[in-house]
Amino acid sequence: MAVPIKILGFGGSFRKGSYSKAILNAAKELAPKDSVIEIFDIKDIPLFNQDHEATPPESVSMFKKKIKDADAILISTPEYNYSIPGYLKNAIDWVSRPYGDNSFEGKPVALMSSSGGMLGGSRAQYHLRQAFVFLNIHPINRPEVIIPSVHEKLDANGKLIDPMTKEKITELITALSEWSRQLKK
Ligand SMILES: Cc1cc2nc3c(=O)[nH]c(=O)nc-3n(C[C@H](O)[C@H](O)[C@H](O)COP(=O)(O)O)c2cc1C
Repeated sequence: MAVPIKILGFGGSFRKGSYSKAILNAAKELAPKDSVIEIFDIKDIPLFNQDHEATPPESVSMFKKKIKDADAILISTPEYNYSIPGYLKNAIDWVSRPYGDNSFEGKPVALMSSSGGMLGGSRAQYHLRQAFVFLNIHPINRPEVIIPSVHEKLDANGKLIDPMTKEKITELITALSEWSRQLKK
């Protein structure tokens, strides 16, 4: 069997019952056999300060290394005020620096957004996709995993139980693995 594609997953919110974190955990379980997802918690990443971008704090250096070592990236995000949550943008800003040392350079990336509302965090997802252009990330365009009314798709323990959402996430990780293998060639 081929060597599994190493995927680094991050995102969710820091809230104990975070739905977007539950979606990330579900993706880890749903990953097909030819890929493996490691989840990195960005809660210890401090606020970005450009004075320290060349000598970043330990949590940032570790995050940068994990991203560089991964074959592919998976992000799960909620939507805050029609956009990207500040802590997520902050973490991305850190690892994109210093200029010339963008950890995401050329990486394949898949994106999942979720919300209690009707639009499933799609506006945050499209703002992130805009940032991907500058980051020179190669995103998966299809399927789009946009999860509306996310709270209705989890059980009381925060486990994803909605069959269609599970199917879409599996399709997304499969597409990410295939795209990663193509880019490696
Ligand atoms: C600061 C803030 C802003 C929010 N803005 C939006 C929004 O623009 N669109 C939306 O669909 N939900 C919005 N919500 C609701 C979130 O979708 C909901 O709280 C969701 O559960 C957050 O993700 P989490 O469960 O991973 O913490 C907002 C929530 C917060 C705390």
